[in-house]
Amino acid sequence: MKATAVAPANIAFIKYWGKKDEALRLPLNSSLSMNLSGAYTTTTVEFPPNLLEDDIHMYSAPPRTKIQLPLKFGASKAIGSSEREKISHHLDRIRQKAKIWYKARVATINNFPSSAGLASSASGFAALTMAASEAFKLKLSEKELTVLARLGSGSACRSIPDGFVEWREGSSSGSSFAYSLLPSSYWKLCDVIAIVQNTPKDVSTSDGMSSIKTSPYWKGRINKIPDKIDRIKKALLEKNFQSLGEILEEDCLDMHRVLQTQNPPLYYWNDATIKIMENVRGWRKSGMPVYFTIDAGPNVHLICEAKDEKTLIEKVRNIFGVLEIISNKPAQGTKLSKKHLF
Ligand code: PMV
Repeated sequence: MKATAVAPANIAFIKYWGKKDEALRLPLNSSLSMNLSGAYTTTTVEFPPNLLEDDIHMYSAPPRTKIQLPLKFGASKAIGSSEREKISHHLDRIRQKAKIWYKARVATINNFPSSAGLASSASGFAALTMAASEAFKLKLSEKELTVLARLGSGSACRSIPDGFVEWREGSSSGSSFAYSLLPSSYWKLCDVIAIVQNTPKDVSTSDGMSSIKTSPYWKGRINKIPDKIDRIKKALLEKNFQSLGEILEEDCLDMHRVLQTQNPPLYYWNDATIKIMENVRGWRKSGMPVYFTIDAGPNVHLICEAKDEKTLIEKVRNIFGVLEIISNKPAQGTKLSKKHLF
């Protein structure tokens, strides 16, 4: 009763912000994303028959760190009670499906800073869902796994399928699922993430989303989403980079307009975020096609084609306030692994 899964983070080109059903975690809008090759979570879950409570260990290991297996549990990051509760609550959903009530031992490693708006909850809940379902031999389909992962954290459903993924908002739990629109090999795009803050943010996405309707702009954005999804799918199918970039930047700014006009307002950007956005406009003027998108955090995702990746990284490196760069290609979805963490 032990399994390990590796799940990528994903970057939303059309973003999820706001729920129409809190308990079922049904989103107000469909969203579309790309899985990221350089930011992922590895999770091992075991259900030993003798545990009295869930035993959860979290680690953060920067890229290229050699991890000694099996893990020594003493060195894990202390995790807060609300994080622990969310994980145990999600395990309950999976125990309920299996009708087995064993407590779990869980170890999870992110290769990137956790909770800094880098979708650690997406890769985290995708990996947890697949590893725990496999440990119980539940034999769920990909669609069922996306529905289950969504209940843990909305955007997690988009980290399960391969490559470029759409999450259909749906009107019931079973109809709110994610599927692969195009495989990771379809288009050599890059997401160069400029990390300008690597500590946890003050307001979680769940808390932030719950006041969406205090913004006068939320409805306008939601009404525009079906058209944006059609346009971005067309841009993907035609490999029209300029159109893709313009739409994803438009939706990023539309979402942040909503965040910044909520009550209380949410300003996730810092000086470096704004500097990078200004630079992007300048780089485009001087002939380099690059577009930005930003989740609920200050870090900036710079989307370019593979041919421009190296030049872009050099330019980003020179911006004051950039602490770290993670460069990503489109990645496959969540996969099982035989390399258990313990
Ligand atoms: O799934 P959550 O609760 O972490 O929310 C993700 C929200 C955004 O990252 C801002 C947008 C998105 O679609 O990923």
